[in-house]
Amino acid sequence: MSARLLAAEQPEDFEFNDEFSKLAQARIAMYPEGKQASAIVPLLWFAQKQHDNWIPEAALRHIGDMLGMAYIRVLEVVTFYTMFNLSPVGKHFVQFCGTTPCWLNGADAIKNVCKEVIGNENTISEDGEFSWLEVECLGACVNAPMVQINDDFYEDLNEDNFKKLLEDLKAGRTTNVGTQVDRLNAAPCGGITTLTDDALFDGSMVGSYKQVMQEIEKVEAEAKKVAELEAAEKAKEEAAEKAASEKQETKPEVKEAVSVKADDGAVSDAFKPDMLSEARNGEADDLKVIKGVGPKLESVLNGLGIFHYSQVAAWNADQIAWVDSKLKFKGRIERDGWIEQASSLAKEGDK
Ligand code: FES
Repeated sequence: MSARLLAAEQPEDFEFNDEFSKLAQARIAMYPEGKQASAIVPLLWFAQKQHDNWIPEAALRHIGDMLGMAYIRVLEVVTFYTMFNLSPVGKHFVQFCGTTPCWLNGADAIKNVCKEVIGNENTISEDGEFSWLEVECLGACVNAPMVQINDDFYEDLNEDNFKKLLEDLKAGRTTNVGTQVDRLNAAPCGGITTLTDDALFDGSMVGSYKQVMQEIEKVEAEAKKVAELEAAEKAKEEAAEKAASEKQETKPEVKEAVSVKADDGAVSDAFKPDMLSEARNGEADDLKVIKGVGPKLESVLNGLGIFHYSQVAAWNADQIAWVDSKLKFKGRIERDGWIEQASSLAKEGDK
């Protein structure tokens, strides 16, 4: 960072001329009452524009008075920004960027040209045409190395084109602002490498664009359909899980039998379940759908007075033990889950 000192020789006073006074007042009026200090940067810029590209101390005091700011506050702002010159500069003021991207791309050669053609930093050339200052990044790194001369950027510099540029400026010739090589704005050297199809810009792709949009809409519609199917499937699975868990919850609880078995496995008739002399309405349930019950066993069950799922579903542990002993099943009724099966079947419809 360069030292920010006020010039040794200063004019006595400073006043904005009509043009800049109007601009300054308009800028101040943009801020709410009490916030006029916010206009300091544009006012400093106007002072520099009016005063040969540098700001005298009298202008700093004048601006401080206009904005109701202490002079030291104005000085703090003006010395922070290298865009403000605090001493006279050449007619063509060169701000040379020496920050890393520019330095890596050959800024040293540009600096040497400044020294060789103009002289030491912060001094005006003998003919009054030039002065230069090293500054931090000016934001055009992609086209490094670069300099700012007065209000213009010159980019992609090298020793030769920079020397020529200074010669042209001195001679009053027109110069090419911006890049000095075969480059469009900040595109790659030698021409753009992307978006090169003319059809992108001549309107001929409007039809294709419509086609693409239609394809996108189609894909989106398909995706929506798949999502809906997946959601429906998921809802179905959740409903099945819920039904299963409800069924689980309502599963009949078979308490442990308390019936006393004789040595031969017989169970007292006190635990005999309710039996029917015949099927209700003369129509028995198909007991064969219960696992382990075949035609023969169904006939035995009917003979005992068991015709309906609801009868089986209603058995408690002692009654199961009684039926088990009669059929000599040795626990098969429980193992095969007759009670659970009969409960489900009874819900579906007992006769
Ligand atoms: S580093 Fe030079 S412009 Fe950014």
